[in-house]
Amino acid sequence: MIPTVDWKQGKVILVDQTKLPLEVVFNEYSDYRDVTGAIRDLVVRGAPAIGVTAAMGVALGAQGIEAQDGKEFLKKLEPICNHIASARPTAVNLFWAIRRMQAFAECLKDQTVPRIKESLVQESIRMKEEDIAVNRAMGSYGAEFVQDGDTILTHCNAGSLATAGFGTALGVVYAAHERGRQIKVFADETRPILQGARLTAWELMQEGIDVTLITDNMAGYFMQKGMIDLVVVGTDRTVANGDVANKIGTYSVAVLAKEHGIPFFVAAPTSTIDFSLASGDLIPIEERDASEVTRVFDRVQVAPEGVRAANPAFDVTPARYITAIVTEKGAFRPEDLHQLQDPQADLEKLRFRPDH
Ligand code: MRU
Repeated sequence: MIPTVDWKQGKVILVDQTKLPLEVVFNEYSDYRDVTGAIRDLVVRGAPAIGVTAAMGVALGAQGIEAQDGKEFLKKLEPICNHIASARPTAVNLFWAIRRMQAFAECLKDQTVPRIKESLVQESIRMKEEDIAVNRAMGSYGAEFVQDGDTILTHCNAGSLATAGFGTALGVVYAAHERGRQIKVFADETRPILQGARLTAWELMQEGIDVTLITDNMAGYFMQKGMIDLVVVGTDRTVANGDVANKIGTYSVAVLAKEHGIPFFVAAPTSTIDFSLASGDLIPIEERDASEVTRVFDRVQVAPEGVRAANPAFDVTPARYITAIVTEKGAFRPEDLHQLQDPQADLEKLRFRPDH
């Protein structure tokens, strides 16, 4: 798996996902404002990858701060954090990661400025490593629901490229594959930005996993034919009642899955859970430029010049369509998710388990 995001010699390194799969290009960033731009322009995308990139962006911005002491440093860190936080509104990892970096800096405020700067770099690298470990743990729990011979449908890209490595929904696929299960994946192409066609199909092929690319409107056809055994998707923000925001089109897939009695799983690291929101209708949904709909990947115009087009980048799948939410702490029914906030909760008892 190629590294999605890295810190090397004082720079943030991102594989340019707008160029994949035709070209594998690594961009170097030495200005935090360009990191914000890279998140906004989808050079890096996918909630956990956005989070780690934002943390490295904060570390990068911190290097340029001139301050006499920790207090002044913290004051100057704030506008940098606000700038990065403005990149995209839906993936909660962006805000989670920035807050974590700010809280970390706060704890260090009595140290020397060079020491705080270096510690912030180390913290962002730690967040990258933690993300990979979390994805592996989530993959293990999720793989329990995958049986030999299963065909899994996924939407968008919730793979290695959407994280610091291994992936969330595709982490479940990779973990099942590592356990020797013969599995197949159907990947929705995911209009308008084609994350499924460009990224999911590509990374699954790189890992030697049997993948079939379909257009988004084919999912029902294959479900009706009994060719899909389970659906696994990622999430940008899961809220307290178990509602989940994910790439536009996820809701339609969930409704179709319910109609056909197909289990629908969401792979959600706890960093994508926002317990401060009670229900999914409160999640801010990013509206992107209409040209993403009227043109195919900014290359070919497919709609009449001047037509009005809508482009919400995410939709909300209500908890009632979700079989279980798979986290690094185990899989839980959406209605039990809120119990993860309680450090005394008996997770062993709450965990949702496969019936096979
Ligand atoms: O607009 P994107 O490509 O950032 O949207 C990504 C998704 O919707 C993913 O499914 C989600 O972030 C989960 S990634 C592990």
